[in-house]
Amino acid sequence: MSTNCNIPAITPDELVKLGLKGITAAILECKRCQLHENATNKVIMRGAETPKVLFIGEAPGKNEDEAGIPFCGRAGKVLDELIAYMDLKENEYAIINTVKCRPPNNRKPTQKELKTCRPFLLAQIELLGPQVIILLGNTAEQAFCVSALDWGEAIATPEGKHLIKLYHPAALLYRRSLMEKQREMIDMNKGLWQNTR
Ligand code: URA
Repeated sequence: MSTNCNIPAITPDELVKLGLKGITAAILECKRCQLHENATNKVIMRGAETPKVLFIGEAPGKNEDEAGIPFCGRAGKVLDELIAYMDLKENEYAIINTVKCRPPNNRKPTQKELKTCRPFLLAQIELLGPQVIILLGNTAEQAFCVSALDWGEAIATPEGKHLIKLYHPAALLYRRSLMEKQREMIDMNKGLWQNTR
């Protein structure tokens, strides 16, 4: 069993210097927590490298682990529906997760796993440079270290980005009735990504 005890912490700034390709390589090599032990594939990102909107999900599931692509299963179909509803083109969005390896039995990532993977998350955000960051559910909010955002209410970050928490697409799979509320939250915020850039 390999653990992360003896590996020095890596900072987001060091990772940013590597660029997106370098970060991909660093994630592929990463053994900083035990999640890598059962990963078939690391799941790094999909979408544009200069997105207006960045979606942050929780963690890869079974389909994502097999394909190495974020949100490529049933929850991904719901996310794709939302992206179409938001009227985002292929080159206007990207999707990443809080952790890059599938947690066993689709459990939530632990606080420690979120913390260990956070430098990758922060460096990806910095390099992708979105105007709008959409946190898909509470785990994404926790990983981002902001507390108690209201659902659908955009806040501005000190860097001038907009942060919004929306329902995780998997929650919409199980409770289709939430879809109407999700669409209202999108409607409320669409000026943030429409008619810009
Ligand atoms: N759920 C997530 O949070 N991320 C994925 O990539 C797939 C499902």
